[in-house]
Amino acid sequence: MAKVKLTVNGRAVSGDCEERTLLVHFIREKLGLTGTHVGCDTSQCGACVVHMDGQSVKSCTILAVQASGAAVTTIEGLAGNGELHPVQAAFKEHHGLQCGFCTPGMVMTAVDMINRHGGHLDEKTVRHELEGNICRCTGYHNIVKAVLSANEQMHGSAKQAAE
Ligand code: FES
Ligand code: FES
Repeated sequence: MAKVKLTVNGRAVSGDCEERTLLVHFIREKLGLTGTHVGCDTSQCGACVVHMDGQSVKSCTILAVQASGAAVTTIEGLAGNGELHPVQAAFKEHHGLQCGFCTPGMVMTAVDMINRHGGHLDEKTVRHELEGNICRCTGYHNIVKAVLSANEQMHGSAKQAAE
């Protein structure tokens, strides 16, 4: 067994787990934060995306012990003061979800994408960067619209809106 200590959504947490425990299972089963989903066993679907030290990562590809000492943000840590994060609000406004299973990973990926591009996002880039997130419901169109809309809201300089 290994001791894992990390900060999750601003809170210091720790727990024992087997060395082989994946970060996503630590988050879901030890911490009870079930907003982070598991949609595959091949590291393809992106339902498990969280932020580790500010960058999006597929939490099914990282051992919990590898995340020890890191600051992790999950979908539960995104909203603040009772308000949805602008990306969450944009997904809601633009109908960027149906069953919602992929949505936590989509949103976490989108937040990182918007942060990294600093407002300079276009539809082609959004579609390219969403390659690692699979949605079986929406056809992606409204997800792309939501990301571009949130980008504009957060940076005020989006050059394009998805048709
Ligand atoms: S559960 Fe991590 S990529 Fe599918
Ligand atoms: S909304 Fe159902 S998988 Fe994306």
